[in-house]
Amino acid sequence: MATGRRKIAVIGAGNVGATCAFVLAEMKIADVVMLDIFEGFAKGKALDMSQNGNILNYDGGITGTSDYSDIADCDVIVVTSGFPRKPGMTREDLIGKNADIVSQVGAGIRDNAPNAVVIMVTNPLDLMTYHMQKVTGFPANRVIGQAGILDSARMAHFIAMELNCAEEDVSPMVLGGHGDTMVPLPRYTTVGGIPITQLISEEKIAAISARTASGGGEIVKLLERGSAFYAPGSAAAIMAEAVLNDRRRLIPASCHLTGQYGLEDVYIGVPCILGANGVERIFELDLSDEELESLQGSANFYKSQLSEILGY
Ligand code: NAI
Ligand code: 2OP
Repeated sequence: MATGRRKIAVIGAGNVGATCAFVLAEMKIADVVMLDIFEGFAKGKALDMSQNGNILNYDGGITGTSDYSDIADCDVIVVTSGFPRKPGMTREDLIGKNADIVSQVGAGIRDNAPNAVVIMVTNPLDLMTYHMQKVTGFPANRVIGQAGILDSARMAHFIAMELNCAEEDVSPMVLGGHGDTMVPLPRYTTVGGIPITQLISEEKIAAISARTASGGGEIVKLLERGSAFYAPGSAAAIMAEAVLNDRRRLIPASCHLTGQYGLEDVYIGVPCILGANGVERIFELDLSDEELESLQGSANFYKSQLSEILGY
């Protein structure tokens, strides 16, 4: 069914892309276009998802394509195209292959949807978000990376398990890069408004933070043939909804920094307001020396990779 709804594109109809498209379809907020280099793959998944509308009571256009002219009128574009890692690989091992894919996809977006807000998912996330901003030439507020919602949700889950409390009552905060250097912030993580530092012992918080930082790898090891996609797909859909409906959600996301936290010209996870223009505002939290050092260490790791591997 064709509708007059606004449109969201999801590039890459694989595990994360299809999950994101499915969550968006269930939200009933927009028509969804899935674009994949394999046209039949995107079309087949779109048809399957459309038929699911009768069962789950949603409708609207869900279409598949490999033609970039089909994303022309999209307000928001989620980019999930790229290789996921396999056991033993770091996200950074994906740089070469995925940078080529992002170059190709970025050109398609730049030439066909020049006013869209782009939400990056492809790994290594903070580097690929930087690369996408350069390829499109879009203002940095319109190119954002998804990592913080996912990493925070992982931390929230481990806290909910520890306290045996509802997942929704946990308000987590994880900053830094989407990798082993991420920076879980227990001081800014609350349950029902109470800082977890008052609810959980220091040793247990340290264990939760460590498990959060290696949360993606834990799933890669279990799956053996790919990486997580349910929570990543949902996290990207939540960001797309925030932009489409100008929700002004305060979330951690990979944003381009211009001096905040003493960091310049790098994408890294920080708290921001996400609205119709993408990143509407970045918040500078009052960090302890140790927290700030961790955040700067994480950013500097990616900054060195930007110059050494991607030539920026
Ligand atoms: P997948 O292999 O299931 O799907 C990737 C899709 O991209 C495939 O359908 C493939 O055909 C498509 N593709 C490849 N080259 C393309 C091109 N040039 N143009 C259009 N489509 C193209 O992988 P999955 O599991 O969906 O992961 C996708 C990416 O997301 C990976 O790089 C993964 O590491 C990353 N990821 C990032 C997360 C985050 O929090 N930022 C979390 C989970 C995954
Ligand atoms: C994750 O964190 C691999 O980035 C992916 O699950």
